[in-house]
Amino acid sequence: MCPSRTGHTLGVVSTSARDGWDPQNLPPQDGRTYLVTGANAGLGYFASEQLARAGAHVILSGRHPNRLAAAHDALEARVPGASVETLLLDVSNPGSVRAAAASVRGGLFQRGRLDGVVFNAGIVHTPRHRETTRDGAELVFATNALGHFVLGAELLIPLAKSATPRWTPRMVWLGSMSTWLGKHSPIDIQLEKHYAKWKAYAQSKVVVQALGLEADARLRDAGIKVESVVAHPGYSIGGRTPRVQGVNEPSAWKRLRDGVQAPIAQGKQQGAASIVRALVDPGIRGGEYWGPRFATRGEPVPQRPSPTSADPEVRRRVWERCEELSGKEWPFDRAARVGH
Ligand SMILES: NC(=O)c1ccc[n+]([C@@H]2O[C@H](COP(=O)([O-])OP(=O)(O)OC[C@H]3O[C@@H](n4cnc5c(N)ncnc54)[C@H](OP(=O)(O)O)[C@@H]3O)[C@@H](O)[C@H]2O)c1
Repeated sequence: MCPSRTGHTLGVVSTSARDGWDPQNLPPQDGRTYLVTGANAGLGYFASEQLARAGAHVILSGRHPNRLAAAHDALEARVPGASVETLLLDVSNPGSVRAAAASVRGGLFQRGRLDGVVFNAGIVHTPRHRETTRDGAELVFATNALGHFVLGAELLIPLAKSATPRWTPRMVWLGSMSTWLGKHSPIDIQLEKHYAKWKAYAQSKVVVQALGLEADARLRDAGIKVESVVAHPGYSIGGRTPRVQGVNEPSAWKRLRDGVQAPIAQGKQQGAASIVRALVDPGIRGGEYWGPRFATRGEPVPQRPSPTSADPEVRRRVWERCEELSGKEWPFDRAARVGH
């Protein structure tokens, strides 16, 4: 998986073999199409902006039309000539995921390809008490993990169809350092027995990382030319992030409060670099795990996922539970056929 396994604080590994990445100067992305979930704000917005600046066509997806429109306007203003479109997609709602994926598949006939997907949308500030979606799923798990599991199943065929001899389409899952804090073996995956705000977040991210790693193993086993990579953005906060109208407008108080955290934090535009590198760096392989060099901040480097999320037994259990809860299986057989 990762080239080196030394220097293990929070999974950071030494990386001299893969230095030399300049987030301001990405490999040209002209002709590529990427979909980003939760692209109207935060890391999703800044990742989309970086991709568009490098020449990619970006499908900005989000759950709220006004917020999406504001992000679309901001991106076009900041990146003249950007090729972007918006897509309504609430990842916590399986009906919305299916409808959005159907639009993408339909639109593919015009655009011709889907080169990658970033499963970014997430609830970071989790509810104090357990909440459920209309389908009865625990809200944080449904948003951060299960919705993206369903979206991955829905988009696997278009991704596989877009493989070329020079490019293997990718999916990038948003992990988190929180997965290292404690042993969050997700047996009670929907926290029906005991819900706690912090646990809801950390456990959902263990599930996300496990799904991302398991997806890659299953894709390889099936011989499908699609890769799955997990990336985390360290500690990326709004008050250290440039002001972008309608996207990131922190108050003076938030700027001050976040400024105090400068030694351990970075802006979301910097955190987005891990995500973007995981998506477009041709030197990265499926099954890898990327994050900032100094754990909470810094340029993207290969790292080690937390042991729980990398445990093959946890990965298998989490995958099967998501299949059960969503009623959806990834179409590996069909995807293997279209890829040949
Ligand atoms: N920031 C960090 O330090 C950090 C660290 C580790 C991992 N992460 C991960 O990075 C991702 C983005 O975090 P962030 O800091 O950028 O958070 P953020 O600024 O709160 O942005 C979250 C994005 O997700 C969207 N979202 C939430 N629920 C959604 C739903 N049901 N359907 C569609 N979109 C939805 C939000 O849309 P609305 O505007 O409509 O709410 C927003 O666009 C998350 O997965 C998070 O777990 C962040």
